[in-house]
Amino acid sequence: VVVRASAYADELVKTAKTVASPGRGILAMDESNATCGKRLASIGLENTEANRQAYRTLLVTAPGLGQYISGAILFEETLYQSAVDGRKIVDILAEQGIVPGIKVDKGLVPLAGSNNESWCQGLDGLAAREAAYYQAGARFAKWRTVVSIPNGPSELAVKEAAWGLARYAAISQDNGLVPIVEPEILLDGEHGIERTFEVAQKVWAETFYAMAENNVMFEGILLKPSMVTPGAESKDKATPEQVAEYTLKLLHRRIPPSVPGIMFLSGGQSEVEATQNLNAMNQGANPWHVSFSYARALQNTCLKTWGQLPRAARQVHLRRRDRRGQGGNVRQELQLL
Ligand code: 13P
Repeated sequence: VVVRASAYADELVKTAKTVASPGRGILAMDESNATCGKRLASIGLENTEANRQAYRTLLVTAPGLGQYISGAILFEETLYQSAVDGRKIVDILAEQGIVPGIKVDKGLVPLAGSNNESWCQGLDGLAAREAAYYQAGARFAKWRTVVSIPNGPSELAVKEAAWGLARYAAISQDNGLVPIVEPEILLDGEHGIERTFEVAQKVWAETFYAMAENNVMFEGILLKPSMVTPGAESKDKATPEQVAEYTLKLLHRRIPPSVPGIMFLSGGQSEVEATQNLNAMNQGANPWHVSFSYARALQNTCLKTWGQLPRAARQVHLRRRDRRGQGGNVRQELQLL
């Protein structure tokens, strides 16, 4: 049986290579409205569209962003949103050489028949949604599912996670979006690093098997794994060198060199931890670009600093919104703040 390649094959390879370009990584700013609300609540702001817009404007207009960031994952609202000065957020990103991406999964729900585990929804209607996202400027996609070590993981949960990721990856490639494949192995638990390593080997074996069965083109995907660490409640702590050793061993055993980029999630690690661990992984040559796709480990300090600005200063962004189209330069204003 000959399987038709995606009409977008060349473009997918090019997009994946751009996102996996030297010295750069992904800014994950795709918090759902509910999660973004939690972040805003932590600095005493209401979860309104105007506040989400102001915060995301702040992120995408940081001076020099394109030097370090190759891709930005957006939530659907932001893909269609303008910054506070009226320019489209996707255009601001593209001007800086940053590829816009889009979260396409519909979140986690309980997995019937499992040990209180989850599965990820969003395959129904995915092709049509992705075709529209491509039209709106997105060039890659993200689907995050999770695997819990304390709850098993059961054979069923791992198989479901792998199959869902593989179907999503095939559908994304068919619609011109490079799929970021993200089976997050949650940090929760008292287990040691060996147990995380064992589970991660199983999860990635299943995921690549399912992707091969679904004719996913490995040159046109990106991975978003968790680092191999002890559980968050483990009595053991690991040094960055240990995390790098286990994580690279996992990647070498499971990830073909045709995959262009491995972009780690931060998963609740502090900014410093996530940075030191990634640095330790890049001390030698790797067959893939090994970088970051952090949300919390890139945004935490920014959010806190923004939250500490006097209310009047933060309001500048919001007022700008009312004067949309009148030629204000938000970037300059943000620098002044
Ligand atoms: P964290 O880096 O906060 O774990 O977020 C990762 C993620 O999946 C967001 O896209």
